[in-house]
This record gives sequence, C-alpha cells and structure tokens, in this order.
Amino acid sequence: MEKFVIEGGERLRGTVTIGGAKNAVLPVLAATLLKRGLYHVGNVPRLRDVTTMIGLLELLGAKIEWADEHRLAVDTTHAEGFEAPYDLVKEMRASVLVLGALVGGARRAVVSYPGGCAIGERPIDLHLRGLSLLGCDVGMHEGYVDVRADKLRGGTVYFDKSTVGGTENILMAAVLAKGETLIDNAAMEPEVVDLGVMLQRMGANIDGLGTPIIRIRGVKELSSCDYDVIPDRIETGTFMVAGGVTRGNVTIEGAMPEHQTALIEKLREAGMEIDVENGERGEKGVIHAAMSRKRPTAFDVKTAPYPGFATDMQAQATTLMCTAKGVSVVTETIFENRMMHAAELRRLGADITVVGNRAIVRGVKSLQGARVMATDLRASACLILAGLCAYGTTEVSRIYHIDRGYESIEKKLAQLGAKIERGKDEGMAS
Ligand code: UD1
Repeated sequence: MEKFVIEGGERLRGTVTIGGAKNAVLPVLAATLLKRGLYHVGNVPRLRDVTTMIGLLELLGAKIEWADEHRLAVDTTHAEGFEAPYDLVKEMRASVLVLGALVGGARRAVVSYPGGCAIGERPIDLHLRGLSLLGCDVGMHEGYVDVRADKLRGGTVYFDKSTVGGTENILMAAVLAKGETLIDNAAMEPEVVDLGVMLQRMGANIDGLGTPIIRIRGVKELSSCDYDVIPDRIETGTFMVAGGVTRGNVTIEGAMPEHQTALIEKLREAGMEIDVENGERGEKGVIHAAMSRKRPTAFDVKTAPYPGFATDMQAQATTLMCTAKGVSVVTETIFENRMMHAAELRRLGADITVVGNRAIVRGVKSLQGARVMATDLRASACLILAGLCAYGTTEVSRIYHIDRGYESIEKKLAQLGAKIERGKDEGMAS
C-alpha cells in the first residue's frame, strides 16, 4: 500500500492543466459496446477506474490500446460477451454502466449486482425499473442481474430520484429501441450530456440533453465514432479549493468554467477571487482562483443534483471551512454516509460536529499535521487538501482511492509548490 507524505503550509501558486472527466469517460467507453467497430476516445485520464473499465471491455471481447498518452483506440468488432463479473463490479461500481450498452447492442446483459459502498447503499433499482419499462425482462440469479431485451421498445421512464448512472443506462438502452422514449426527471450532469453528444455523433436521435426531459427516437443502426471527453469538473474544483485552503493563487487551464457555477459562487462567498477567461458555449477556458493570503470566511453548502453543488465536491469544500472565520454548515442530500472524512479532519485539529446528514464546522485558526486514512475517493482528496494547509507533516494512507479518480495528483500539486511525496506505507498490510 502507498501513502502520501505532505509537509503543509506552502501557499500554492502557478498553473495546472485539467485532464478528462472520469465520470464522462466511463460511460463513453461503455457506449462503444452499442455498435461494434473501431473508436478513438480522446482526453482519457490515466486512472485506476479507466483501467478497470478497459479490463471489463476486454473481457467482453474488445481490443484496446493506448494510441497516445491520453487517447484510446477501442475495437469492439469482436466484443460478443455480455457478462460483467462480480470481481470487476466490486472493484468499480461504474461497471454497471455496461448494462444499458449491452441491452441496446447485444440485447442481453448479465451484470453482477453492485453491493453497498463506503458512501451509501447506492441501489440500482431505478436503472432496472427503467429497463423493464422499455420492455426488457429483468431477472436476478446468484447475485447477478440478467436482462433480456428481445422486445426492447421505447417507453416513458420517470425517475423519482435524479440518477446519473440510471439516466445514462436508459439513454444507451433507448437509442436502439423501437419507437420513442421519454426520460422524465433525467439527470442534467455535464457527463450525461457528454455521453448523449457521443451517442448523437454515432447517429442517435436525442433531444433535451441537459434538461430534465430527454426524448430519444430509436434508430435502426448506429456507427462507431471518435470522441474527446470533457474536462473533469471535480478535478478542476479540487484545484480551485487547493488554492483556497493554502491561501494561494492557482490558475487552472483546460477546464470548463460553465460547469463550475455553483462552486464558484460558494468560493466567492468564502472570500476567494475567481476570474474566468473564455470557456463559453462548450469551449475550454481558464480559471484563476485566488485567496491571496486571506483567511476564508465561513459559508454553507447543501449538495444537490447538477446544477446544484456537487456531492463529489462536498468533502473538499468542508476542508476549506475548517480554517474559515465563523461557523459553516454542510448538508449532504445525495448519499447517506458521506461524512466519514469529518472524523479524519478532526485528527488534524478541525472542529466538526456531525448530526445526521449535517456537519457543523467551527473554523479554527490552523490545522496541525497528523496521520489520517482515506475512506473513499473524494474523502482522500479532502485529506490531501487538509494536509497542504496544516502545519507539520501529514501522512494520508490508503491512497489507492485517490488513484481511482485523480491522475498524478501529487505531481500536479508539486508543480504548484506543494511539498508532497508518494511513499510506501510500511504500517499497512497490502
Ligand atoms: C454518479 C457519479 C458519482 C456522483 C453521483 C452523484 C459516476 C461514475 N459516478 O454516481 O461520482 O457522486 O453520480 O452525482 O458518474 N439511487 C437509487 N436508485 C438507483 C440509482 C440511484 O436510489 O437506481 C440513489 C443513490 O443511492 C443516490 C442517488 O440516487 O442516493 C444519486 O445516485 P446516482 O446519481 O445514481 O449516482 P451514480 O450514478 O451512482
């Protein structure tokens, strides 16, 4: 096992470039199963979750190679498999995104039912109900969901809860269904839109992407395509907060500022100066995020589906509150167990009380380094941020979580002046 060792207290300054979005590339890769052929997928981040998805597609018969540092050549010509096994699904829940693509492409999907995870139960009942509404036979045996889609046809799918993965699976299943599908209360996240744009490029007929009602008119045939995924808004946000917690000045290139509206608003409330250059109408732009030696001011955050404040930025925002002047309140509305980082932040001297889905953060003047343990992907990011602003040495263990979603985070932070190193965690069994 590996750990990060951080010598805190350095003000971060300089420029960092953002990679492709993890949560966009995973469904985009799954979508290559909809039409057998050759695809080039660009702006692919080198992440453990991407490697897991590559492994799953290869298991289904695809041939995949890195064409260059961030571009994958994906050949699904002989991808005839339809089973996503337990070992891969337990490694990465997003494996469940092959469900919709297999239903649409192969008309059969057998996918291990994902168990709960560190941040909540995360059932897939809404995905399965949606597939039944499109005429699929959905069965369960020995921990596997078995979907037969011989009678796949359009239908109306209303989601009681906004679900990113559920919307993506139904979108992929519907593009080749007979007739029209309406997804009501569809997720509006940029990653859902990105998948939809790729499907349009493949020849799908989709309207309403980025709105709560998506209309899909099934087509007979799709074709393969080349596609570059959008920049990662959570990586972008994490570096914006890194500028804030270290009271530095960070410039972020290759981001999409239009995806950061809720976060920008909150960081300004905390006292940061955020300036945006370019980045309108789907273009990449530059974000300058500066705290310029000031102490942050307390602010409140309530997570919500996009365009609300992202649950994946909740832990990082909490770190900024830890040393803010005043009392901040975090309300987590998406996942039922997403406050595990609070106990670790307390080890660094933060004053946080968790009551149900709320965290009350009383800002302290400074944090002090300590040994802490990452519990999930975004919690590990928040502990790194806390280590960057704490005095002394912080050791973050179980950093395999961070490698799932951030490419070379320590190199990017070091480029901004952080003192952070990856080392072996001798104290942990591997
Ligand atoms: C995706 C993101 C994840 C992000 C989350 C919320 C990917 C790979 N992951 O996860 O990083 O934190 O969106 O923005 O894109 N739910 C049900 N039944 C279902 C489906 C979902 O009850 O069938 C619940 C979940 O337990 C959760 C809420 O709905 O409470 C939202 O989950 P969802 O949007 O589906 O999250 P994911 O797609 O799993």
